[in-house]
Amino acid sequence: MKFRIIFAGCGDIAYRWLDHITKRDDCEIIAIVEKNPARAAKYQERYGFSCPVYGDLEEAFAKEHGNLLIDLTYVTAHHDIVTAALRAGYDVMGEKPMGFTVEQVNDMLKTVDETGKRYIVMQNRRYIKQVKEIRELVLSGKLGDPVYLCGEIFVNADLASIRNQFKYPQLQDNNIHSFDLARYLVDGTPTSVHYHSFNPKGSMYKGDAAGDAVFEFDNGCIYSFRGYNGSEGCYTSWDNVWRVCCELGTVVWDGAGDAVYEYTPERGGIFKGIPYQSGIIKRPETVRDQHDGALEDMFNALKTGKPAGTECKDNIKSIAMVLASVKSIEENRKVEIEFNDTYPYLVLR
Ligand SMILES: NC(=O)c1ccc[n+]([C@@H]2O[C@H](COP(=O)([O-])OP(=O)(O)OC[C@H]3O[C@@H](n4cnc5c(N)ncnc54)[C@H](O)[C@@H]3O)[C@@H](O)[C@H]2O)c1
Repeated sequence: MKFRIIFAGCGDIAYRWLDHITKRDDCEIIAIVEKNPARAAKYQERYGFSCPVYGDLEEAFAKEHGNLLIDLTYVTAHHDIVTAALRAGYDVMGEKPMGFTVEQVNDMLKTVDETGKRYIVMQNRRYIKQVKEIRELVLSGKLGDPVYLCGEIFVNADLASIRNQFKYPQLQDNNIHSFDLARYLVDGTPTSVHYHSFNPKGSMYKGDAAGDAVFEFDNGCIYSFRGYNGSEGCYTSWDNVWRVCCELGTVVWDGAGDAVYEYTPERGGIFKGIPYQSGIIKRPETVRDQHDGALEDMFNALKTGKPAGTECKDNIKSIAMVLASVKSIEENRKVEIEFNDTYPYLVLR
């Protein structure tokens, strides 16, 4: 199978995708869609592309005959680009976050069902080797069921992209990475959230760059999130700092080095003199680019017809955590999250 690709959006993240795609012999870039010609020119030069550049997606669809659209624009553009591509007969791979509103993401899934085409969303952090290994440990039952998950991210993002001008820039752009990982690590589906959003004194953002949240998952695990995208100094990893408390043990990972865990064969055993047993999940010596693993899974899924790990019908459970958080902030209350197999796929109450 040969992928004839139109890619839309020549921002900073496009390098990650193109470094992978241009090494594959099953991919050909047939056109670029970018509103800003100077940005497209940079990519053409770097990768030696001679394909046409269009400022408008519909024009590209009218003139080109591809089978895969890659959407690397920002979240406010994803709905229109993805639905137009699906309707034009393209499968779609695209960057997170899927959409900006409940109406948008429901319409995106409806269009997938109506067209029979595929839409797979990038969540690269799932493809970190240690993340997979922590998940395997947690789901093995060795530590008992996961009961309380804590994640935090304190970083300093630049303000270059439009996405950093949103009302809740941290939540509406980057938090999906944290939320998707949380769901993945404990194999939970979110059922509610209560989110407190704020913009710390001195923040360079117009909108809220920080927040604290409590999510409930269907497996009984509680996820506590906190983060600030405008921290000065002592950053955490972009992959978050994690503590996974299970009934009989705990895993701790700083998102950068080795993960460590301790567990007991018997609840309260430490008070009877039974020492904790421990283990390490080593950081690999060579760390692969996260996008490589994700893209391999995405292309493989399209070739085999099997679902990718981040197929849109799964990914709606992660974007739901963002959209429910926005509702929670705006209504200053806990919001319940419900999923359906058919339209409307996501309902917030
Ligand atoms: N997975 C990750 O680790 C990761 C990291 C950074 C960014 N991202 C995501 O990648 C996406 C892009 O981020 P970025 O930093 O490259 O953004 P960016 O703002 O630098 O670039 C986006 C580009 O899309 C173009 N664009 C926007 N709307 C368009 C349209 N309708 N038609 C054609 N071109 C259009 C803009 O002109 C711009 O060049 C975002 O959704 C972001 O959240 C993901």
